[in-house]
Amino acid sequence: MTKQQDMTVVLTGASGGIGRATAEKLSAAGARLILVGRHREKLDALIHDLDNDAHVAVIADLGTEDGRHHLRQYCESLGSDGISVLVNCAGINEFGLFEEQSQSAVADTININLISPMLICQDLLPLLLRRGKAQIVNIGSTFGSIGYPGFSAYCASKFGLRGFTESLRRELADSGVQVSYIAPRATQTDLNSQKIVAMNNELGTAMDQPSVVADEVIRVIGKRSRLDKYMGWPEKFFVKINALLPALVDSSLRKQLPIIRRFAKHEI
Ligand SMILES: NC(=O)c1ccc[n+]([C@@H]2O[C@H](COP(=O)([O-])OP(=O)(O)OC[C@H]3O[C@@H](n4cnc5c(N)ncnc54)[C@H](OP(=O)(O)O)[C@@H]3O)[C@@H](O)[C@H]2O)c1
Repeated sequence: MTKQQDMTVVLTGASGGIGRATAEKLSAAGARLILVGRHREKLDALIHDLDNDAHVAVIADLGTEDGRHHLRQYCESLGSDGISVLVNCAGINEFGLFEEQSQSAVADTININLISPMLICQDLLPLLLRRGKAQIVNIGSTFGSIGYPGFSAYCASKFGLRGFTESLRRELADSGVQVSYIAPRATQTDLNSQKIVAMNNELGTAMDQPSVVADEVIRVIGKRSRLDKYMGWPEKFFVKINALLPALVDSSLRKQLPIIRRFAKHEI
């Protein structure tokens, strides 16, 4: 844990379930946090709970150019000893049948979950490169490797984030900036509506506590690991099966489809 003591970490999605748990653990490990979100009251309450004056809140809608510009300006203002870690954790999900989803929901999902973390990486990369040793951690999902009915736009965004992470990691392989990808399985946060929770219960899909994901983030940052981390059993096994033998996963999900459809349809 001592490695985190001289770190300044930009954490997007800090007010959410996984972000908050991650903030608590990073703060306890001694990191200085730049907590990013749209709602000042939530971030102020978090800083109050963390009981550390070194942390700051940056209020920004990361789906907008203005919001990302504001974050970049704040990070630049810290000078040469500024940020050393970026954790892209902000995300949204609208569960539903693709044919019934609004086009704005599809576009927002791709914007917040994929375009925004890519552009934040681009904005902050000069600062991270300047630090010499630095790290980017992108929070993906099991659904970044397995296309799942009812989550088409979300899966597309996370598949994209996984591909982006791999490309950027290889592009920066000769630099001091390491790029990691963490793929949580279903986790008990507000990202999952009551319909999703009810569906997961009926399907027997396990849901982790946010602190379990936060522990993984801390491990990856502590080790400065380049590796991708896939969380949960059997989820990490299905990720491999889906890559090697996708027809097997097709037929398994075909059996689940009536249940998924029942929850994903608009009327319920
Ligand atoms: N929960 C799961 O089952 C699960 C599973 C796998 C992966 N993940 C991933 O884990 C990450 C964290 O999710 P979570 O479960 O903690 O979700 P959450 O509790 O719903 O939190 C989402 C966070 O994203 C922020 N956010 C959303 N839109 C934003 C915007 N336009 N600008 C700035 N911030 C924005 C929210 O902040 P404000 O609303 O306060 O602005 C909030 O802090 C996401 O990337 C998600 O895809 C979650």
